[in-house]
Amino acid sequence: MSPALPEPGRFALGTATASYQIEGAFTEDGRGPSIWDVFSQRPGATADGRDGSVACDSYHRWTEDLDLVAGLGVEYYRFSIAWPRIVPEGRGRVEERGLDYYDRLVDGMLERGLVPSATLFHWDLPQALEDEGGWLVRSTPEAFAEYADVVAQRLVDRVGLWATHNEPWCAAYLGYAAGVHAPGRQEGGAAHRAAHHLNLGHALAAERLRAAGAEAVGIVLNLAPIWPEREEAREVSAGIDAIRNAVWLDPLVDGAYGEQLLSVAPELADPELVQTGDLDRIQGSVDWLGVNYYTPVRPDVALADAAPHPEGGAYPGVAPFDLVVREPRTDIGWEIEPAGLTDVLTTTWERVGVPIIVTENGAACVDEVAPVAEGEAPTYAVDDQDRIDYLRGHLAAVNDARRAGADVRAYFVWTLLDNFEWAEGYTKTFGLVHVASEDQTRTPKASYRWVAAHADDLREAA
Ligand code: NOJ
Repeated sequence: MSPALPEPGRFALGTATASYQIEGAFTEDGRGPSIWDVFSQRPGATADGRDGSVACDSYHRWTEDLDLVAGLGVEYYRFSIAWPRIVPEGRGRVEERGLDYYDRLVDGMLERGLVPSATLFHWDLPQALEDEGGWLVRSTPEAFAEYADVVAQRLVDRVGLWATHNEPWCAAYLGYAAGVHAPGRQEGGAAHRAAHHLNLGHALAAERLRAAGAEAVGIVLNLAPIWPEREEAREVSAGIDAIRNAVWLDPLVDGAYGEQLLSVAPELADPELVQTGDLDRIQGSVDWLGVNYYTPVRPDVALADAAPHPEGGAYPGVAPFDLVVREPRTDIGWEIEPAGLTDVLTTTWERVGVPIIVTENGAACVDEVAPVAEGEAPTYAVDDQDRIDYLRGHLAAVNDARRAGADVRAYFVWTLLDNFEWAEGYTKTFGLVHVASEDQTRTPKASYRWVAAHADDLREAA
């Protein structure tokens, strides 16, 4: 098995992608439909009306993409496995061709000296399970554990670093409360049910992974620093903190849903939902924690004339509030504030006490594609100095957290390729490599060359 976590005291670099965002080939080799295939067909669901059916066509171009990761000079490649490729109906029949694909992908990483880091659920739930209630019903975490077992049996001899879920807050609250992500349901407090089933699914899958021999099992959370804009916003901030952070950390660390959380999410006190033994299984179920960070959350009291925030519906049970977004911002409208990363890493380390990896951090920029050479084989360049500044600033913030004592072992850039950015379609680009939609040409940007040129210093400096 390839090494899992970097050794204590070492600091590694990597880059990350997710299956639905890059693979395309959505009906190939027996893949079943996922909730994102279905949701993205709804008028208005994505900013440009496009979906992930082709995406970056990485299902066919994976060797080129792994070469790009290797050329970056980083040691880790974080990828996700598409559940509907492995178990097309969500439970039952296993599709060998799907497993074969990830088999080849993992071998390709090892051949290039890359350490694979697999995520089992990056939001592409099989639609067949959604049709039975999705994350609102208990049979979904049970099916997730079965799928985890199938994948582990096939890959555990070569994959050391495992994550169950990616950003379950988005799956639960953007998917079942705000309705801006698949499956696009707006069911208010019912989303807390989804959160518990995601927590339970994580624990059941972690048990299966360990039984199969996995050494380093974690979960990837988009924890956020919640910074009240003024004194009067303290109460709503506490509610937002509960739903964004505590709903995942309370059961993991304390084996209980805490009081603050229960005050906004009384659903989590229902014994038919949270059954005897569930919380014990979740408590202590990680060897490491993945933290995805992009921006701080600054709640304010509700101002009568403010436009509703797209994430407004994502905190069911919390009184109306506004979110302040200060300048400077990236192209997706998120405030750039590296101090938020230091804050979230130090507080999370104090709370959880397991090694942390920054499993995602990066910036959506307006990437100007300039022609370099014309003619039969034209070449292009993207001089994304703003992305370089963002990455430099956030790596320094990781460094600050490490100096303050947080055990942060690695930093993964989001993302390798310009790809399907969920509700934003292809309108927001985070890649180190530009991908031309017309012909799939990959063009490394200046930021890619910056990482490649400085990988050694970046590792050492941190
Ligand atoms: C977090 C998600 O995990 C990833 O899929 C997404 O593209 C980035 N954030 C940027 O929004």
